[in-house]
Amino acid sequence: MRDAAPQTIYLKDYTPTPYNVAHVALDFTLHPTATRVQSRITFTRVRAEDLVLNGEDLILKSLRVDGAEVPHELSETHLTIPAAHLSDAFTLEVEVEISPQTNTALEGLYMSGGMYCTQCEAEGFRKITYMYDRPDVMAPYEVTIHADTPVQLSNGNPTAPGCWTDPHPKPTYLFALVAGDLVATTDHFTTMEGREVTLNVYVRPGDEDKTDYAMDALKRSMKWEEDVYGRPYDLDVFNIVAVDDFNMGAMENKGLNIFNSKYVLASPETATDTDYAMIEGIVAHEYFHNWTGNRITCRDWFQLCLKEGLTVYRDQQFSADMRSAPVQRIKDVLQLRARQFREDAGPLAHPVRPEAFVEINNFYTATVYEKGAEVIGMLRTLVGPAAYDAALTLYFDRHDGQACTIEDWIQVFEDSTGRDLSQFKRWYAQAGTPHLTVTDDFKNGEYTLHLKQKTKPSAGQPDKAPQVIPIAMGLIGADGAEVLPTQVVEMSEAELTLRYELDAKPIPSLLRGFSAPVILETEQSEADRLVLLAHDTDPFNRWEASTLLAKSNLMANLTAGSAPATAWLDALTKVITDDTLDPAFRALVLALPSEDNLANACDAAGIVPDPTAIHSARKAVHLAIAQHMGEALPALIAATATPGPYSPAANDAAKRSLRAQLLRLQTRLDGGTMARAAYDAATNMTDQLAAFGCLLSAGDTTVAAAFEAQWRTDRLVMDKWFAMSVAEADPDDAVAVATALTQHADFDWKNPNRFRSVIAGMTAMNPAGFHHPSGAGYRFLADWLLKLDALNPQTTARMSTAFETWRRYDVDRQALIQEQLARIATHPGLSRDTAEMVGRMRD
Ligand code: ARG
Ligand code: ZN
Repeated sequence: MRDAAPQTIYLKDYTPTPYNVAHVALDFTLHPTATRVQSRITFTRVRAEDLVLNGEDLILKSLRVDGAEVPHELSETHLTIPAAHLSDAFTLEVEVEISPQTNTALEGLYMSGGMYCTQCEAEGFRKITYMYDRPDVMAPYEVTIHADTPVQLSNGNPTAPGCWTDPHPKPTYLFALVAGDLVATTDHFTTMEGREVTLNVYVRPGDEDKTDYAMDALKRSMKWEEDVYGRPYDLDVFNIVAVDDFNMGAMENKGLNIFNSKYVLASPETATDTDYAMIEGIVAHEYFHNWTGNRITCRDWFQLCLKEGLTVYRDQQFSADMRSAPVQRIKDVLQLRARQFREDAGPLAHPVRPEAFVEINNFYTATVYEKGAEVIGMLRTLVGPAAYDAALTLYFDRHDGQACTIEDWIQVFEDSTGRDLSQFKRWYAQAGTPHLTVTDDFKNGEYTLHLKQKTKPSAGQPDKAPQVIPIAMGLIGADGAEVLPTQVVEMSEAELTLRYELDAKPIPSLLRGFSAPVILETEQSEADRLVLLAHDTDPFNRWEASTLLAKSNLMANLTAGSAPATAWLDALTKVITDDTLDPAFRALVLALPSEDNLANACDAAGIVPDPTAIHSARKAVHLAIAQHMGEALPALIAATATPGPYSPAANDAAKRSLRAQLLRLQTRLDGGTMARAAYDAATNMTDQLAAFGCLLSAGDTTVAAAFEAQWRTDRLVMDKWFAMSVAEADPDDAVAVATALTQHADFDWKNPNRFRSVIAGMTAMNPAGFHHPSGAGYRFLADWLLKLDALNPQTTARMSTAFETWRRYDVDRQALIQEQLARIATHPGLSRDTAEMVGRMRD
């Protein structure tokens, strides 16, 4: 526990520091339990106030100002030097001792698999030495590393072995250091300015055969950002390091990106197509931060979406360009709905730009990232692509080297387009997902659409004002022909009426491409949805029609035991057998809404969701689809073959994703015969894992041991084994299966990836097991959160969000969850991170 009474930090309290930092020199003598850090920081005075620097878990060895000892005060969290001892410009020299080996929180300097590494965002630098640990204090750095390791890395350019200079002023959160026994894969890139850049991907010895794809993704990212945003790289080296123990996905430290190894390492045998796509997207994301995050950073942590929303938006654009744009959009929206809409509807809802926090690490959320990206996308839709490009150019020109705010960002758009965007800013300030309710009418040759928007109250925000909603829409005739091609309608008031002179009542295709992150409520008939599924010119809305059909058929089964409508099954079969459609799109059409999604649909319909019944309904409908396609399945599966060597590129990956869906259906019919053949024939992890899941779901009793024996020594593949074993368990056995897995010799619970594989394998991938009426799933989660919290608060707090939907459920389940939340909340020594999350979720 860091503080006796955790403090809430408010956006409105922002004050610049009384001193600027002109230069930082750091000298590290690495040792597992007694690392020495000597710092030489030069300050210049702005206001004659005390110098108050952050510092936590540091043993102070010496302190001098301009070479002389001065009086100072130490607390658990700060070092204070009274103003009286400071001049206009001075140098602070400090030596501290820290213990990376015992740093299990994985923030600051820590050790992973014998290697030294750092994670400083958001506030980890204060565990390395005393400093203004905040993003608006930027300085150039010089770093010297003394270590008996083969490799020593830091930010910037190397000047001598173990010595690094970073000329670009940066805040502390972008500092990084890595030292260890590492091997590099090296390549080169020449920038549009003619700069020769050396690229390295550093991994542990033995993993060097798994770096090609990350390197390839890096080079494509560098080129794409030059082509699309006109932004070149700005140092002579760019290093990526893969680390096994990492709380998050990856980190954009200047010139030295540090990655969770699962987002770097890939070979056809060990990584799935989804892994490859994630690696491509995250490598791009971290690289793109160099301009949107590093050169232009955030004034304070409330502005986190300034860098994250924009960078997610840019990595989504990149992936859309590298792969299929409609498929990428559908996948992005699936994620948004699964994670962000869920967050926005519950007790953890917060604005894209929050106004208060206790622990900033709790705000690296789907709202800040994914909704933050949607807000950028809406802005681009509203002003148009050319104006967006002009605004971005102005943003880079005006703010390069600065620490900025959302106001600065919006101002750039206002200045470059002449538009008043004050109302648009509400997207940053109001929590909750707007509901857009649409009714229509056709009379005397006039078609009318009535639109209403409303956002439900959320914590601290009882009343919401209307937001600007860009609605991309078209109209389709009953025969499927497009009557009105896509146009963008701007809705800025609570209500809007649109009128069209037409011969017949059309079918509206609203929110094409999902042009705004809202919940669309219409009275659309099943018949109209079938027309859209067959004919909409907008691929997103074709897919949307299919999900809505799937949802209504699932709900009918759930609430009335009804068999799926034949018209829907026929339509589905038609899409699946349509060779002119991208197989990836067909796979997405075939994927049923998730159990969590259905629980949410129940809630929206005023029905208390029963996770067990949802699980059964989904199985029943899946079986009905399988039976309907019946004999056609083997031929369809055969048509998805990808002969030749494995390629992670979109075309082959698309076929494999369709194949996986079809194999799932086939398994319902043959009990796993074909999946067994597919498993035995698999030559890549995508096919192997897909077949593995089918066999587990069919109750195969030998495949788990075989998979384990084959992959025992590969940590990343074993993470999949752990997760799948829980995910595919019968809900009645899920807690027992998960508990047994936590006793497995390879269950290293201190490794965040491994912890997540079992715990989220239950909470996210086996909801019927997690919500088992016995409450055993809730107890299981609480037990493990309490255990991990003592070592790693950040990952614990993040995993606690499995409880965020508690309000949806019946009173018995609500009481069982509240009991566990109370148990966590009252646990002695609970971290500030987890305390804040649980506090927000408690009744
Ligand atoms: N900025 C990183 C990214 O690329 C995420 C770092 C989050 N780390 C944390 N401890 N909250 O998205
Ligand atoms: Zn990021």
